[in-house]
Amino acid sequence: ARVLLVASEAVPLVKTGGLADVITSLAATLREHGSEATILLPAYPGVAEGAGPLHEVGRLPDLPGGSGVLLQGCIPDSSVPVVLLKTAGFDRRSANPYVDVDGSEYTDNALCFAALAQAAAEICAGNTQLARPHVVHANDWHAALIPTYLKLKGIRDVGTVLTIHNLAFQGNYPLDVAPALGIPPEMLGPDGLEFWGQLSFLKAGILHADRITTVSHSYAREILTPRFGHGMEGILNARKQDLLAIANGVDTETWNPATDELIARRFTPDDLRGKSACKRELQQMFGLPVDPFAPILAMGSRITHQKMADVALAALPHILNRHPRAQLVVLGRGDRAYEQGLFELAGQFPSRIGLFIGYDEHRAHALHAGADMLLHGTRFEPFGLTPLYSMRYGTIPIASRVGGMIDSIPDAGLKGAVPNGACGVLFDGEEAADMAGAVSRAFELHAAPRSWHTMQCNAMSVDFSWDGPAEQYINAYAAVAAPSAKSLF
Ligand code: ADP
Ligand code: GLC
Repeated sequence: ARVLLVASEAVPLVKTGGLADVITSLAATLREHGSEATILLPAYPGVAEGAGPLHEVGRLPDLPGGSGVLLQGCIPDSSVPVVLLKTAGFDRRSANPYVDVDGSEYTDNALCFAALAQAAAEICAGNTQLARPHVVHANDWHAALIPTYLKLKGIRDVGTVLTIHNLAFQGNYPLDVAPALGIPPEMLGPDGLEFWGQLSFLKAGILHADRITTVSHSYAREILTPRFGHGMEGILNARKQDLLAIANGVDTETWNPATDELIARRFTPDDLRGKSACKRELQQMFGLPVDPFAPILAMGSRITHQKMADVALAALPHILNRHPRAQLVVLGRGDRAYEQGLFELAGQFPSRIGLFIGYDEHRAHALHAGADMLLHGTRFEPFGLTPLYSMRYGTIPIASRVGGMIDSIPDAGLKGAVPNGACGVLFDGEEAADMAGAVSRAFELHAAPRSWHTMQCNAMSVDFSWDGPAEQYINAYAAVAAPSAKSLF
């Protein structure tokens, strides 16, 4: 069966977060399981060069914001076909797909991503050289207008699945963009696409997709509540029957300490000696004194409010004072004010903090491999790939007890004996003291080498393969496919 996966990011062509990892891994695994998955992606600058050689598979004269061309190529180092949508709007973007160099949203985001959705609808309608898909799988708000466009075109034989990777990003724009997007006025009421006085791409998807999925069981429960629903809890509850959780997997080839070419020395749960070499490399890479006995606490994520950067900034001075031997390594990029805060902190604790503000795949591997613990505070976390990458390398996560973290990190508990199978430390709360308390607990555990080693082995042995999730998506696709196509899945 043919599935068109529509998303704004896919590694290695374009990535700002976990979405990019998920799209490429899912498409590749779907193909291994017999589904013909193709990715539809915007042709941001540089993307076409990465996916070549390309051939034209469609011309779309009438997209929101202007015309577009579809070019087919391949995701590098894979057999996954990718179709790139080239438009003048996507072509004008610089380093980041969503915001300009000052961090403000591009003014044509609504038009550009509506064009992406409309292009998918044209493919579904058979108006390009591509075979019509049986199911279209839209990811996040960037692709969430697809089911609405299919309804407007009267296309009923292509099933739709919407996956919510992050409910905080909704694609809400002034209602007066509707005519330019081809959305008729009768769809703009409170029962339609209107959301707090704006037109919401994500709400459109939640209303009109055949099935809605999200990326962990706990997040699927959380988003039905006001605390985590970001205002969408009402309509999500209304569609509860069609909402399901399919937890992500992890690319276990890219993130494998036994074969990773990007780390100083490879290692396995049975022989962790290589991890010491990785620790030394990490200390050197981040300009820290080389000390095999200094416990390394690492942070590696977007430096944002979601990721509790503010709480970390308040907690870290206490943590560093309380644990004088500890070193801190930070790799990330995000809000300017938090980045500045980290620079200042590094100045206050010379030779204790290694800081790299930027995005860097090589350093990310070195960090997961060489650190002892990963600090991953988050106010909400739909899935959370980063802590799982660290677990693959025997680096113990200290994470907030929210969303995917609840499901994927068996907790050692905040005091007493470590339960069987524990892989990390989870904490509640959003105060500096909550975070610092959890770090202290992790240091206490680290001081007992045998149980620490057991936790490392537990963490390294968890099965995060994509096979199970891919099968669950295939079942969801079969459920929404037209009756004549169901047996193809
Ligand atoms: P989110 O998608 O919310 O950012 P995830 O943990 O699911 O959270 O995914 C984040 C992805 O981005 C991971 O692959 C992580 O390794 C990567 N990442 C984040 N920041 C950086 C950085 N500064 N350098 C390299 N990789 C990063
Ligand atoms: C989002 C979420 C993250 C999740 C990723 C992939 O960016 O914030 O938790 O892992 O999507 O689904």
